[in-house]
Amino acid sequence: MGGKSSLRRAFFILGEYIPRINFQVERMMKSDEILLKALRCMVGGVSAGGRYHPTLKKPLILASADGCTLTDVDGKEWIDYHNAAGATLLGYNHPAIRAALEKSIEMGFFLNNESKYHADLADLIHRMVPSADKVRLSNSGTEATLAALRLARAYTGRKKILKFEGHFHGMHEFLFYNWHNRLGAMNSHGEIEVVWDTAGMVEETDDLIIVIPYNDIEIFEKTVRRHREDLAAVICEPVMYNAGCIEPVPGYLEAMREITREHGILLIFDEVLSGFRMHSGCAQGYYGVTSDLTTLGKAVGCGMTLTALVGRDEVMARLNPVGPVVMSGTYTGSLMQVMGALAALEILNGDGFYDKLNNGSAYFYGRINELFELKKLKGVVQGLGARFGIYFGLEEPTHDYRTAAAAYNPKAWSRFVELALENGLYFHHYGDSLTPMHSGVTAAHTREVYDETLDRMESIFEQMVREGV
Ligand SMILES: Cc1ncc(COP(=O)(O)O)c(C=O)c1O
Repeated sequence: MGGKSSLRRAFFILGEYIPRINFQVERMMKSDEILLKALRCMVGGVSAGGRYHPTLKKPLILASADGCTLTDVDGKEWIDYHNAAGATLLGYNHPAIRAALEKSIEMGFFLNNESKYHADLADLIHRMVPSADKVRLSNSGTEATLAALRLARAYTGRKKILKFEGHFHGMHEFLFYNWHNRLGAMNSHGEIEVVWDTAGMVEETDDLIIVIPYNDIEIFEKTVRRHREDLAAVICEPVMYNAGCIEPVPGYLEAMREITREHGILLIFDEVLSGFRMHSGCAQGYYGVTSDLTTLGKAVGCGMTLTALVGRDEVMARLNPVGPVVMSGTYTGSLMQVMGALAALEILNGDGFYDKLNNGSAYFYGRINELFELKKLKGVVQGLGARFGIYFGLEEPTHDYRTAAAAYNPKAWSRFVELALENGLYFHHYGDSLTPMHSGVTAAHTREVYDETLDRMESIFEQMVREGV
């Protein structure tokens, strides 16, 4: 496809949807050709809404990915700081995962049945994650949190769920509230008006959710006491990676644990993103606080489409076929995903894995913060383990979501992403948000890669200063 007739067709199809498409009269880029085809039958040309990149004004169309390098269909390369939304903690195309996938192909690659590898994977998760007496696999983080709520409601006989502003738990109706749409009004108790994160929600589910700020023990304790008879569960991201990276203040997780236990309310750690990010025992292993239920995703499979709901024996025993709570699915625990995830987790469980990962990332975050100071650009990086947020506009590190939101300079972030892309660094942009979203690193990011990135970031920061962004 090329030349003027295809160009006319392109304008007809696209209108003004993607102004940055490369409409060269003589030659279209391969990515443009693919995108044009995609746009005919795929809404917005994407399989997932979040893959549209507002800076590129189109999705990235890849030819391959290896280690920490992405290569697009036009041959352009990027050092990757998105890591498939955090799924590829070992980098892309890891040889041990490849070998496991090849073995699964010999075995038939998809079974809607159990195998030795399912038991091995569950056993390994059980040994690594403190709350994982029992393990049930699932396909997505959204599915895992949905099942966690159903189980909590069945176990407690109560309906309401307490969540925190800025925390993300997937896109189903029970939890898709108060993430990044807008700040809701706060009442005198510290409870926050519920805010939908998508069109198509229904008022009926609003009554089932209570939203409060994270990291305020007093508001937490009073809210739980006020609603104790209705509350089935408290769900949180122990580290708020979906608002960049905001850690719990010392004592907060411990207080949550104590207060929920006192009132027979289940504590659910949604570790879809924090799981295995900084410690082989997830955030709960790192902070030494164990939840009743935990959802795992992303790094649990290092690129496999596999997630899990794990938890305390007595609660998990309510799942079918032992108990009355249904949790099942055609694709759940598919052999290929199970064998790939097992190979990945064995590496994460190896000696020294997290020392190396955490030392590398701490070096990288520290050097970026030095660059902010050196170049006199307003901003702070907050990172823990393999995930971080760049808070342009913030002058001091914070544990408070609203402080981060008030200081955040989205224009600076957008300009940074634009310059990063021009300089071969892939940072994803999720569109308008109240704080930065998460970026990340992997075990494939070496010291050399960090230093190369820091050199490029230095000139990007200098340009931003010159432009007065
Ligand atoms: C903490 C958390 N929970 C749940 C989800 C939803 O997971 P999935 O995209 O696999 O449905 C995500 C995804 O980013 C997440 O970060």
